[in-house]
Amino acid sequence: MGAADQRFFDTVHDRRNTGAIKYDAQPPTAVEGDVIPMWVADMDFPSPPAVEEALLRRVRHGIYGYSDAGSDYDALVVDWYRRRLNWTVRPEWILKAPGVMPAIAAAIQALSEPGDGVLICQPVYYPFAQIIPANHRRLVVSQLRLTEGRYRIDFADLEAKLQSGVRIFLLCSPHNPVGRVWTRDELLEIGRLCCKCDVILLSDEIHSDFVLSEHPHIPVASLSEELAARTVTCTSPTKTFNLAGLQTANIIVPNGTLRKKMARQGYAAGLGAQNALSLTAAQAAYRDGEPWLEALLDYLRGGYDLLREAFPSDGPVSLIEPDGTYLAWLDCRKLGLPPKALANTLLKKTGVWLHNGATFGAGGEGFVRMNIACPRSVLSEAVARIRRAVSELTDPSGL
Ligand SMILES: Cc1ncc(COP(=O)(O)O)c(C=O)c1O
Repeated sequence: MGAADQRFFDTVHDRRNTGAIKYDAQPPTAVEGDVIPMWVADMDFPSPPAVEEALLRRVRHGIYGYSDAGSDYDALVVDWYRRRLNWTVRPEWILKAPGVMPAIAAAIQALSEPGDGVLICQPVYYPFAQIIPANHRRLVVSQLRLTEGRYRIDFADLEAKLQSGVRIFLLCSPHNPVGRVWTRDELLEIGRLCCKCDVILLSDEIHSDFVLSEHPHIPVASLSEELAARTVTCTSPTKTFNLAGLQTANIIVPNGTLRKKMARQGYAAGLGAQNALSLTAAQAAYRDGEPWLEALLDYLRGGYDLLREAFPSDGPVSLIEPDGTYLAWLDCRKLGLPPKALANTLLKKTGVWLHNGATFGAGGEGFVRMNIACPRSVLSEAVARIRRAVSELTDPSGL
């Protein structure tokens, strides 16, 4: 992509009546006027042009028989992680799933027993807390600590909890919604504790291509062979290239025994062939989508600049400085609104539909998550509306 990048991402597309959850779902509260949906984590940008061309070619062919990824796909995944993250993945390590959440469910089923503990660090992507009890495992939570504007893992708490019958640590890396890209030292400590406590590391790295910080994203399985042997990593081109509706994911399992268990779980669930269109789209994206991704990352940096100015650290609403992801985490605790009603109150007042922080579990109360992957004009309008509402809420003369 070239000079026209900005315009590509600036264009507003009408996504209503396309079955898009973000636009076609009913808002949780009645709203007067137009709604700006900034909740679900997909982007309001078309996928890379190469994806559109590949899909059109495939659709023109017109026959959609049973399809398999095959070695071409695996080679593209291997090449992507070598180039982007300096991670050596062997093609035979890669399993496929119709999404990261199905992959996580399969890993929980394959690698733990009913009643075992599965640990997560909250606040975190809320389906984690649902899928664990839904699979009859014990939900164990270690809360992240927010100090000096930065979220950190409480390692003493983590270690104590990993020793309490936990079989799997479900890590979110980078972390949705707090925007942390874990550093090498943090990942080494996580790895050390998992080895010490004999816990499997299930690393959800779906956001790994969205890094905005100086320090890179490090796949935790790349840190040592010992760690790779107990790690299952889930990645996907769907977040990176905005293909969520096509539903595909990679499960990278270096350990042959764990991989066999995962594959068996796939057979047990009746999974086999892959979706022909998602394969076409993913291959085109991995092969030709990198310039689009670089342009997108630049665009997102500009979006965060806007938020940083609108929501400074000493303001009534403040942006938690992100290392990555396109999901901004806004601290609204100073507004003093009831945490459960926070996003709905803002939605009612502004028409901006945000994700309520409390939904993400312990420590999310008083925060909202804002998806900034939208054209700048839309982001500016949403920010202006929120700022107006915040001045009304905090204006003493209005009391
Ligand atoms: C951390 C994380 N994991 C998993 C998912 C969902 O992945 P999939 O749609 O492939 O199931 C999301 C979507 O937002 C996410 O943020």
